[in-house]
Amino acid sequence: MCAIHPFDKTQNQSLLRGTKRSFLILLGLISSLACQSPRSQTDYTDWSYYGGPEDGSRYSSLSQITKENVTQLEVAWTYRTGDATERSQIQCQPIVKNGILYGSTPSLNIFALDAATGTEIWRFDPFEVLGGENSWAGTNRGVSYWEKGEDKRILFGAGNWLMAVDAQTGNPISNFGQNGKLDLRENLDPERKDFLIVANAPGVVYHDLLIIGMRLSEGLDAAPGHIRAYHIETGELEWTFHTIPKEGELGHETWDPAYINQIGGANNWAGMVVDYSRGIVFVPTGSATYDFWGGYRHGDNLFANSLIALDAKTGERIWHFQGVHHDIWDRDFPSPPTLIRIQKDGQWIDAVAQPSKQGYTFVLNRETGEPVWPIEERPVPQSTLPGEKTSPTQPIPTLPEPFMSLIFEEEDILNLKPTWEADIRNQLKNALYGDMWLPPNAEEPIILFPGMDGGAEWGGAAFDPETQTFYVNANQIPWIIEMSPNTDFENVGKSAYTNYCGNCHGLERRGNLPAIPDLIQINQKYTPDSLDQLLQKGRGAMPAFDYLSQETRKVLVDYLMGTLEEGNKKELESASSHLNPRYYMKGYKKLLTQEGLYGSNPPWGLLTALDMQTGLKKWQIPLGEIDSLAAQGLKNTGIENYGGPVVTAGGLLFIAATKDEKIRAFDKDTGELLWQANLPAAGHATPAMYEKDGKQFLVIACGGGKGTKSGDAYVAFALPENLKD
Ligand code: HEC
Repeated sequence: MCAIHPFDKTQNQSLLRGTKRSFLILLGLISSLACQSPRSQTDYTDWSYYGGPEDGSRYSSLSQITKENVTQLEVAWTYRTGDATERSQIQCQPIVKNGILYGSTPSLNIFALDAATGTEIWRFDPFEVLGGENSWAGTNRGVSYWEKGEDKRILFGAGNWLMAVDAQTGNPISNFGQNGKLDLRENLDPERKDFLIVANAPGVVYHDLLIIGMRLSEGLDAAPGHIRAYHIETGELEWTFHTIPKEGELGHETWDPAYINQIGGANNWAGMVVDYSRGIVFVPTGSATYDFWGGYRHGDNLFANSLIALDAKTGERIWHFQGVHHDIWDRDFPSPPTLIRIQKDGQWIDAVAQPSKQGYTFVLNRETGEPVWPIEERPVPQSTLPGEKTSPTQPIPTLPEPFMSLIFEEEDILNLKPTWEADIRNQLKNALYGDMWLPPNAEEPIILFPGMDGGAEWGGAAFDPETQTFYVNANQIPWIIEMSPNTDFENVGKSAYTNYCGNCHGLERRGNLPAIPDLIQINQKYTPDSLDQLLQKGRGAMPAFDYLSQETRKVLVDYLMGTLEEGNKKELESASSHLNPRYYMKGYKKLLTQEGLYGSNPPWGLLTALDMQTGLKKWQIPLGEIDSLAAQGLKNTGIENYGGPVVTAGGLLFIAATKDEKIRAFDKDTGELLWQANLPAAGHATPAMYEKDGKQFLVIACGGGKGTKSGDAYVAFALPENLKD
């Protein structure tokens, strides 16, 4: 349809050498000439966003580094942050604006460097402002940049704080929130104020708004995952979208009304992307809590595990797509989405692509949410866990092809050595496996594959608009889910009773006649409704309990009616005012040999190129290897990886991410390994790519962690002077 390819090489060349302005004019010209639908005006040299350019494609139109010269790359500079600790990490993908690189350190200091030399311009320690008691704040995956005239700001999260500093000096912006900081616990839920909040992924900037989500607890003590927009000039809250809908809001009916107000999660911790020309923000969410037993949240649980398209200006929902109904496997959408523009059956489609932990990529029309390829609801196995009620079906995309294997079965059991195989088989003796939708149960462990860290994870995917190829790295490792009954469960009704009623009616419910009646066979005298009425209104010397929540009253009523223990799944409230799950997951656990080797046959880490015109795999290769195995001749096994790829007009795909502490460059067309370099510590992050002073740079945060040694370096690679042109 479109006579001119949306990108051609000459443009990309001119990009490096010519000015941005002439490029934009050229782009505009071609788009008005060539295509009916408006073409993306994205400047692929502007990597001032989390995710690289504004469309989150991690694509750079720079082409100084090529397939031919990539082997000449050398370290241009290294910036040591000096604050690594034993288990610290750096998950930050730095951004570059006006020749300055902004990033974060293991202890969550924010810094600005000259992007050409790595020389520090300023550094800001948020805890000098926040004080010592806030010194645990988790990780920080990046910062956001905003400017209006001379006012230039860096916004970032530190624990439950959203902060703003001057991009030129690093000084807090005094008129933002309270002296440059605002507490994300405010305006969340007055009754759940003290819960864990970590603003780890940076917010997205839309005009004067910063739209942000947060990481929360995975337990029943989780805060609700509201999506919020703050005015960047003042720190005022501008809008809130309830991912767990309030009464009267769409989706409220997909929950159990008795408990919905106490459920948390359904939060965005992976980051977002904005379609600036349409004013739409795309928000992927995680599961609702408790993650592994959903007895308090019967129903599909919108908008958990969903990709939500919101009007970026107002927070109003435009459409949503739920990737897992009533999730009990911790299958959060793990990556920020990517805006892609693809040609299918002769038509250009502006789509959004969302990789998942379960190995699928969901590709949806940006405006309507319509699937680009059909997504089918297929029947899945059902839970037998008391109180649980699983969804009869789950959505399965017919295309694109999965970017990993989806089933762990007999032949996938690690068999590289008999001792390893025996070890794993022994652990699998009582386990159930062979279907990714096996629900956790009380008797046998289940093997979760794809695992809890994906499939895809938080590094995000890369999209090459030139070739319409989507690149995604994945872990291919089995995990174990074991459930154990919550022994406090049966007692929680009793503890509520003890709390509110016991002192009058007696701990054994015998009362104190004649003044206070016994409550032993109260179910013969009252219905649940009439009992609830009595509790609300009181009677004579019996006080009214109208101040108790409906949920708490229900627990009390069920307890007294004797229906609580009968496994009618209605759960209880503990003295500490949050719900208790009836079953607990025993702990996050991979299926590993005693030596710590993954329990499946390799590859354990993968890098996949998907052709987004056809939805088919272009190539797939193992990503990384385990040095000790490679030394024994077991090469190319792939390895666990965290952090994403970047793709360039120079024909290259760069990725670190692997636990083997290397960074690599592949031929983006074939997957052939062209270059690799050792890093001072594992680069568990996504690289940044930019040009300064006529030189193309590749920068990766080397913070290690995740079982590898920690590090404190940002390392920049570039070509030697003589090779630049
Ligand atoms: C301050 C003491 C007190 C507390 C606390 C109290 N009650 Fe009572 N309750 C009474 C008295 C006194 C009566 C008798 C009232 C009457 O008949 O006028 C009563 C009556 C009742 C009855 C009616 C019994 C019947 O045979 O009709 C029920 C049911 C009941 N209470 C449940 C509860 C529950 C549940 C709680 C805890 C949430 C509770 N009460 C807390 C004092 C108390």
